[in-house]
Amino acid sequence: MPKIKSKIVFLCSSCGDDHPKWNGQCPSCNEWGTLSEFKVSKNRNNYLVDIEKPGKLSTILNLPDIQRILTGINEVDRVLGGGILPGSLILLGGNPGIGKSTLALQLLPKIEKTSLYVSAEESKDQVALRAKRLNIDSSLLHLSSENKIQSVIEQSNELKPELLIIDSIQTIYSDILDSIPGSISQIRECGQQIQQFAKQTNTAVLIIGHVTKEGAIAGPKMLEHMVDTVLYLEGDDRQDHRVLRSNKNRFGNTHEIGIFQMESMGLVEVKNPSELFLSERQEKIPGSAIFPSIEGTRPILLEVQALVAEANYATAQRNINGLDFKRLSMILAVLEKRLGFFMAKKDVFVNMVGGLKIDDPAVDLAVIGAIASSLKEKALNKSMAVFGEVGLGGEVRSVAKADNRINESVSLGFSQVIIPKSNFNRIKTKKYNAEIIGVANVGEALHYMY
Ligand code: TYD
Ligand code: MG
Repeated sequence: MPKIKSKIVFLCSSCGDDHPKWNGQCPSCNEWGTLSEFKVSKNRNNYLVDIEKPGKLSTILNLPDIQRILTGINEVDRVLGGGILPGSLILLGGNPGIGKSTLALQLLPKIEKTSLYVSAEESKDQVALRAKRLNIDSSLLHLSSENKIQSVIEQSNELKPELLIIDSIQTIYSDILDSIPGSISQIRECGQQIQQFAKQTNTAVLIIGHVTKEGAIAGPKMLEHMVDTVLYLEGDDRQDHRVLRSNKNRFGNTHEIGIFQMESMGLVEVKNPSELFLSERQEKIPGSAIFPSIEGTRPILLEVQALVAEANYATAQRNINGLDFKRLSMILAVLEKRLGFFMAKKDVFVNMVGGLKIDDPAVDLAVIGAIASSLKEKALNKSMAVFGEVGLGGEVRSVAKADNRINESVSLGFSQVIIPKSNFNRIKTKKYNAEIIGVANVGEALHYMY
């Protein structure tokens, strides 16, 4: 066997770039103290690829349409932008125990194509037991518990699956490196080998990855740049629902979400999330407002709850769940300056019920409604939904997809919808079986709310 030569490189734990010399600051991403030493083999023959010739756009466009692989689970297909594209790389991240392996396993029998599930974390028996529990029985599904990347690629070259699942990127390793599985250099190396395999053989690969405490997928950011799609499975351990979210998608919409319920038979799709999120709502309580949000292409009704109380300490508390903190500060300042509400000595708690995180500015008006309602101890009309972005001057600004938001509200029985005046002027409000109210500023909005 030829002797494998190795060289020393310094890898950055933040961006994944390598450098020949150590530096206090990474020259690529400017992070401090992130470089550490690794031994890399020079024997990288597996990187030698046939050189591909450039092709004419017109010829490429004339090729037959690429068929996406449908997973048969609507929520997943929608988040992916209509199924899995052959040859694409998908990264599925989430906290340990959230249900990544369960979801991955549940997709496989439905795609009705040869697939390989590589479980480097659990033994084949454990995976088979879980499959049995989930009632999965497919002759096209193959299991492996290999954790060396070269062997995984060998097995895939032999089996030629249309979908390969690697569970997880933190537990497989390449033997050309000395470092342990899960280290930055291993994740980078394995990621590159998987990427090359996927593109060369046109195999779709789903890579499962754990997330760090900060919520990012563990390993170099580079892994996220390398793949075509980044999905996150999120949820609260104490609650049963799980949210599948696309953070990046080269072949579809981002911010699209799919909602599931974790049950004894695995993850079950939630067909009507608005009903789920509003199921425990108490109608006559002050401090609650209904917000029709748009997640990707789909409207979902959510309840914004607020509680305003006298502060016990010199500095008032601001506690917020599911919304951006800076946004809340801005909203409180608007309430104070434009409406004369005195907020400095008040504790303010705001919660998006159901644990979804909202970064849609259209939520502003519902947050204002909920806070003002708690402050005045007056409940909003129980069949009212509210949306609109609020500007620093207290003006209510138009938002995207007003029609969809109104439609979802009306279809769930809400008979009054407060919307921005500029949206109101552009849509035909008569077509809805509800009272649509256009407002130009927050004062006007509050006038209609109570
Ligand atoms: P798992 O898919 O192993 O999570 P991950 O791969 O993200 O670490 O899911 C683990 C949890 O899901 C575990 O706490 C048990 C629960 N679970 C169910 O509630 N029902 C089921 O049918 C299955 C398979 C798991
Ligand atoms: Mg797992």
